[in-house]
Amino acid sequence: MTKYLITSALPYINGIKHLGNLVGSMLPADVYSRFLRQSGENVLFICATDEHGTPAELAALEKNQDVETFCTEQHEIQKNIYSRFNLSFDQFGRSSSEHNLHLTQHMCKKLMENGFIEERIIKQVYSIDDGRFLPDRYIVGTCPHCGYEAARGDQCENCTRVLDPTDLKNPRSAVSGSDRLEIKDSKHLFLKLPMLEKELEKFIDEHEAEWPIVVTSIARKWLKEGLRERCITRDLKWGIPVPCDGYDGKVFYVWFDAPIEYIGATAEWADKDPETRNYKNWWYDTKDVRYVEFMAKDNIPFHTIMFPATLLGVREPWKKVDYIKGFNWLTFYGGKFSTSQKRGIFTNQALDEFESDYWRYWLMANAPENSDSSFTFDGFASMINKDLNDVLGNFVNRVLKMTASKMGARVPEKFELQDIDKLFIENLSKRISTYTRCLKDLEFRKALVELRAIWTEGNNYLTEAAPWTVIKTDKNRASTILNLAINIIRLYAVLSAPVIPATSEKMMSLLQIEKPDYFWPKEGKLFEELSKLSVGKEFSVPENPLFQKITQDRIDELCEKYGASV
Ligand code: MF3
Ligand code: ZN
Repeated sequence: MTKYLITSALPYINGIKHLGNLVGSMLPADVYSRFLRQSGENVLFICATDEHGTPAELAALEKNQDVETFCTEQHEIQKNIYSRFNLSFDQFGRSSSEHNLHLTQHMCKKLMENGFIEERIIKQVYSIDDGRFLPDRYIVGTCPHCGYEAARGDQCENCTRVLDPTDLKNPRSAVSGSDRLEIKDSKHLFLKLPMLEKELEKFIDEHEAEWPIVVTSIARKWLKEGLRERCITRDLKWGIPVPCDGYDGKVFYVWFDAPIEYIGATAEWADKDPETRNYKNWWYDTKDVRYVEFMAKDNIPFHTIMFPATLLGVREPWKKVDYIKGFNWLTFYGGKFSTSQKRGIFTNQALDEFESDYWRYWLMANAPENSDSSFTFDGFASMINKDLNDVLGNFVNRVLKMTASKMGARVPEKFELQDIDKLFIENLSKRISTYTRCLKDLEFRKALVELRAIWTEGNNYLTEAAPWTVIKTDKNRASTILNLAINIIRLYAVLSAPVIPATSEKMMSLLQIEKPDYFWPKEGKLFEELSKLSVGKEFSVPENPLFQKITQDRIDELCEKYGASV
């Protein structure tokens, strides 16, 4: 049987992530993992914090913390937020783990043995007052082209020209502002990507037909421009030490070790139960693993070219990705989420405002799959009010309240089904197969359209079957309708669980099902599926609706608070 290895791009450690980061990798990976588990598949869902590199060092410096303490603290903060979003990682690791260190050093040694690494001496900018080398983007100065005074050493933000730090006039350190800079020679390791070009091309060719166009087009663009040797080390203290003579004070480039942490985190997971788990069963010389990666589009070159190059070059049978799900950007009112300008909504703030399922639902229904999509509080409120309140919440409320008041809070008896019941079940059955197919194909927006339609079918059925009228003349018939409707609530809990797991649990607990079984309905077996609740079984009457409506006042207040330009 196939095993599914699912990874989400590793969120960077330097601060709390915004909603765009969530919907661009972790959340859809979670929905997919949950769906597969419910379908009875063997799933391993891996994520971690990406902890190395200059931005982490500088963020720690800003907080007056040493970088290790900073990372430990930030890891816990992010981990906690993701658990409040009900992200069901099997492991949420850290790229600063021992396992990653050993694996990364191992990969480098193998690449060297196989002739894929070359040493080069390059010129680096050293800041005397900061006591450190500065990466290009931490050197600022005046742009030689447009005169902009705060141009970065890698690019001028004003005229967008790509720069070299030595092009800048009046160069200074972006860390301290000091202009006491020196150019020093420094030796580094380069990965010889051109030597692997043919193999990488073959790798992309093999997947071209299956992968989404955003993914293959970015990979092709890189290949077409021709691959160059890439520096995989840095003059930094914080990171994985380079295991070679003469490399004291140097570490691997964060993008070299971060993807290797997918394997490292799997090893961390295996450590928790070494008797039954082994990371190599997922990563090394496997034939039974399907590996699916989730990421936003800026990550695609690293996952289609750089990481596969590492895994190909070591000449060991490491598992390579089978399918890449890439995402475009989620914008905030059409613009960028910006921490510094206080625009947009961060994952912790989101949870302070609404329960996680409100967000999970909106984000998945609007996932930036084929193009960017834009978050607005109006759009958010209108979708939550319509889909979650009027459609799903209302159905559950109506059915349970009416049954309780007319017949008592127990599953009523079922008599013979009529054509309208059968037609409803048939429609539902068709929609469920479409929904299932969309989830299998990782077409999330389409899947959510179908999920909403499945909920709507329930409301339409109630309106047509009209148990509140029927009951006056035919109690048995009303009882049959409500029996079916209560069974539908259980089915909705199962079908909604990948997207809104907390609400599904609430629905199961309203039905007083103690050990709910979320097993995905089998094709063509819907009648059985809708007879699972035994007649006479007690249920609870909801005290509050499942969701709260978002009022216009609330929308205005949120716009104000989060810098939405209305
Ligand atoms: N931290 C990176 C980012 O935020 C993603 C790293 S993904 C991995 O864009 F492959 F390196 F793990
Ligand atoms: Zn410029």
